[in-house]
Amino acid sequence: KNVAVILPAAGSGRRFGREENKLFAALAGEPIWIVAARRLRVHPRVSRIVMPVSDQDRPRFEGDFADHVRKLGIELVAGGAERTESVLSGLSHVAEDGSVGLIAIHDAARPLVRRDDLDAVFAKADQTGAAILAAPVTATVKQSLDAGVSCRTVDRSTLWLAQTPQVFALDVLQRAYAKHRGRPATDDAELVTRIGVDVALVQGAPDNLKITHPNDLVVAEAILKTQIESHHA
Ligand code: CTP
Ligand code: MG
Repeated sequence: KNVAVILPAAGSGRRFGREENKLFAALAGEPIWIVAARRLRVHPRVSRIVMPVSDQDRPRFEGDFADHVRKLGIELVAGGAERTESVLSGLSHVAEDGSVGLIAIHDAARPLVRRDDLDAVFAKADQTGAAILAAPVTATVKQSLDAGVSCRTVDRSTLWLAQTPQVFALDVLQRAYAKHRGRPATDDAELVTRIGVDVALVQGAPDNLKITHPNDLVVAEAILKTQIESHHA
């Protein structure tokens, strides 16, 4: 069955610190969101890409970027104030599409996801109905006690960093969002976990970074170069 992608792009990039949305910043000469969208577009299972955008950015996507939006087959929808609302907007847009088996939610701010990681997380979601890319924590993790007066080490052996895509059977995600009642969640897998559905972790390459701070863009440029040289782009 087909995969419909929701590519949330409706943030403002506050931590990136530029006046405009960080997704317009150039990665190897192209806006970050275009690099991200193309990685999904070239995957043979992806049938639709729905991109939530803010009211503020919409004229840009429909103006300067109209050709890119059309060529990439992107359907623009209205985003919301929280990422969860943006995803819900995208989900409502594909709700009635009977040809869709899986929904893959992928941050437009993660332009470096690899083809073989997409294959792996789609395959796992086919089997289980819910799977996300993630990477094991490699750092020593400290819990701050008494506001940093002291600390203790947290056992990292079971800790993973969630990435995207987060991939779900359409009905699983619809049930998770239908039950969502405002308690904040920082990813979609959390909402699915709350309805009692197991979410499988699929180990992805550590180079699937999210562009958050300006320094991430410097790292991303370097990773992109390596990916091209090793044919992992
Ligand atoms: N996003 C969205 N709608 C929101 C907030 C975020 O669609 N209301 C999107 C962002 O555009 C981004 C992805 O969700 O592609 C991950 O969010 P994040 O990296 O936090 O981006 P921003 O929210 O834009 O950045 P910041 O938190 O620094 O403001
Ligand atoms: Mg944010």
